[in-house]
Formats: sequence, structure tokens, C-alpha cells
Amino acid sequence: MKIAHISDIHLDSQRNPNCISDIEILIQRLFNKGYDHLVMTGDIVDVANYDDLYLLRDVLARNGVLNWERVTIIPGNHDIFGKYEFSSNGVSATAMRALQSTGFNFAKRLHEFCDIFRETITDEPEITMYFPFVKVLDGGRNGVAILSFSSVLEWSVRRNPVGSRGYIHAEQRHAVMQKEVLDVVNGRFTIAVFHHAYQIFEPKNAADAAFIWSMELIERESFLKTMKKLNVKLALHGHYHKAETYKIDGMEFMNSGSVRSAKSKINSITIYDDDSYSQEFIKL
Ligand SMILES: [Fe+2]
Repeated sequence: MKIAHISDIHLDSQRNPNCISDIEILIQRLFNKGYDHLVMTGDIVDVANYDDLYLLRDVLARNGVLNWERVTIIPGNHDIFGKYEFSSNGVSATAMRALQSTGFNFAKRLHEFCDIFRETITDEPEITMYFPFVKVLDGGRNGVAILSFSSVLEWSVRRNPVGSRGYIHAEQRHAVMQKEVLDVVNGRFTIAVFHHAYQIFEPKNAADAAFIWSMELIERESFLKTMKKLNVKLALHGHYHKAETYKIDGMEFMNSGSVRSAKSKINSITIYDDDSYSQEFIKL
């Protein structure tokens, strides 16, 4: 079974009118080359413009892959808050987006994101549960389970002033430990997907430290414990635009880096019938 993992596409058709056709070419190419499943780990759009999410939905639909067996999509911070902009118009636009994405509106935005791509979550006509969600695909020895989390942390002045810190809420960690989910993942090749990076870098100076703080996944040790209890084999994410793999406590993490067109390398994962796997970053 072959999985193509891409992330941080940052669609913005107003500033880059070719971005939708660029990503469509990549999507067509990867399915033509025999990939079974495409995982997109957030920051699908750059400035939380949902018109571009609908355009991506159209791309998936007209290529016959708008369904849960072919595609998994989760949001990143840019899909909810956009980006922090420093220009005079940008600062107020950023502040406005942040304020409009707190409390009830935060949940509403996350739900709207899921509703746009609902066929990639479930066959049901309406979604009642958003995160975490789990699906089982053909592959490996007994099937491949994909556990999808939202790692977008609500905006706040103190904890998340630029909107780019992450958190796997305790509710999500609790939900995946329920018997129904444990029964689904038990014995299967299990992959966790989320947006924020687990690995943090050693700061070289104060500016570095501030940047790392603004990007980090908070309480990540608790999340790691949950993943280990679930025997997660691979954790796929994005956020830092850096393609890399690394191990934490024996668990393998993969960041596809930012993939915007067929010119970029994708994270290509092959899972074999005996549950072994291989990975490479390749251009299609
Ligand atoms: Fe991000």
C-alpha cells in the first residue's frame, strides 16, 4: 500500500492564481502513479480563505478522489487563523481574524473545515463528530488505521498570540483511548496525523527561542504517551516547512515539508504485507 503525504500547501488563489492548477497536477500525477491514499497535514490555505478550500474540494471531486478511502485532510493553524502579517493593513487583518476565531467561532471554523471535506471523513451525509476521527484502509497485515487529530490551539493573548502554537486537546487524547477506538487500531498498522511538529529545535538566541515558543506543540509528552499506548507506528505532520524524519522514544515522525506543486518532493510511504515499511522524499 502506498501513501503520499504532503503538507503546508498554503493555497492563496488571490495572490497566486496558479496555485489550484499546480496542486491539481500533483494530485493527478500521484494517483496516476498508483498511490492508494493521499494525506494532507494542514495549512491547506494561507490566509484562512475558505473559497480556496472549496476549490480544492472541486479538484478532489473532479478527479474522483473526494472520499475517505482516497484522501485524509486535517487543518493547520493557517486554515483557522491565517497568518501573522506585519504590514499596516496586515496587522489589523491578523488581529481581526484572531478575534473572530475564539470560543464558539473557533469550533465553528474547525467544523466548517471538516464539513467542506466531509466525504474524506465519512460516508454519512452529515458529520456529528469531528476530531479525532479514525479510518481503516486496506494494506499491511491486517489493515492500516489512520487516526486524525486537530492540533490547532485556540488563539489567546497569553498562550497563543500569533495563533501558530499547537495542542492536542485532552478530550481528543481521551477519545482515542475509548474501547471502540482501541478495538479498531488493535493489530493494525496505525498512523497518527496532525499538523504541528513534535520535534523542537535548540534555540541559538532569544529571537530563536521566541520563534520556537510561538510554533510549538504544547503538552506534547502527554500526546506521545497516548500514541505509544495505541502502538502508533508513524506520526505524520507538517508546520515547519522542512522535510525530515526523526525518532522520539522509538516512534518515527515524518514531516513532508511544504509541498505546493509537482515540482516539490512528496513524502512517499510504502507499507508491505508483513507490516514493514519504507519511506523516501521523492519528486513524482
Ligand atoms: Fe502551521
